Amino acid sequence: MASSKGKDSAITQKALNFQIRESYKAARTNIDYSIIKKGCKKIAFTSSAKGEGKTITAMNIALALAQQVETKVLVVECDLRRPHVHSALDIAPTPGITNYLNEECTREDIIQQTKIPNLYAVCYGAIPPNPSELLSSDAMQDFIKSVEKDYNYIIFDTPPVGVVIDAIPIIKASDGVVVVIRNNSTTYPQLKITIDTLNRAGSKILGVVVNRVKPESRNKKKYYSGDYYYYGY
Ligand SMILES: Nc1ncnc2c1ncn2[C@@H]1O[C@H](COP(=O)(O)OP(=O)(O)O)[C@@H](O)[C@H]1O
Ligand SMILES: [Mg+2]
Repeated sequence: MASSKGKDSAITQKALNFQIRESYKAARTNIDYSIIKKGCKKIAFTSSAKGEGKTITAMNIALALAQQVETKVLVVECDLRRPHVHSALDIAPTPGITNYLNEECTREDIIQQTKIPNLYAVCYGAIPPNPSELLSSDAMQDFIKSVEKDYNYIIFDTPPVGVVIDAIPIIKASDGVVVVIRNNSTTYPQLKITIDTLNRAGSKILGVVVNRVKPESRNKKKYYSGDYYYYGY
């Protein structure tokens, strides 16, 4: 079952079951069709609270995108308070975006090739005292513009908008945002605050991913041993 524990990273586990992979592929297709434009598509992932599955969902959809022919995908860590892109992808956390924004290294230094072909990532670097300021800086916006031409998709893993405002400038710079909710955990009032916040920011909500949905008991007995992901608009 998908988990970031153990030797394999969350998305490279060989055991990731067929139905889970198919769910992410369906999500990929729906997200892709929701953004009509030529050139790089920029997609942010957020949620109402921590631990709802933003990172694991964003990384698996990034993987599904990168599995398409001649499709280059860049993941950018934007949760500078609880960064987990590096552990999900099993790569070094540094040098990363904070090092670049602090002018400690170049753009090329921070873009890492992951173990998955066509999937690249920018990790966090170091936990900064001023995440909100860094993410809303002109330097961050310039960074995004400067990498757009090299990738078909840029995926931003952002902090929960129900908790901190860090994500807003990144979401504004994106073509759309996917909201992750955790089954049996995220409440309707929480989700409403999240949706209202995103609407106030003028962002395009592409859809909602419901994470940690149990398979139907009939199927579960036959095929599954754990949770799986469900995608739905
Ligand atoms: N569907 C799932 N099945 C099993 N473990 C999951 C699932 N979704 C998330 N997790 C685990 O829960 C934890 C929190 O998920 P994460 O994606 O880091 O949340 P967030 O980014 O919203 O804080 C991680 O350890 C992750 O591996
Ligand atoms: Mg996360």
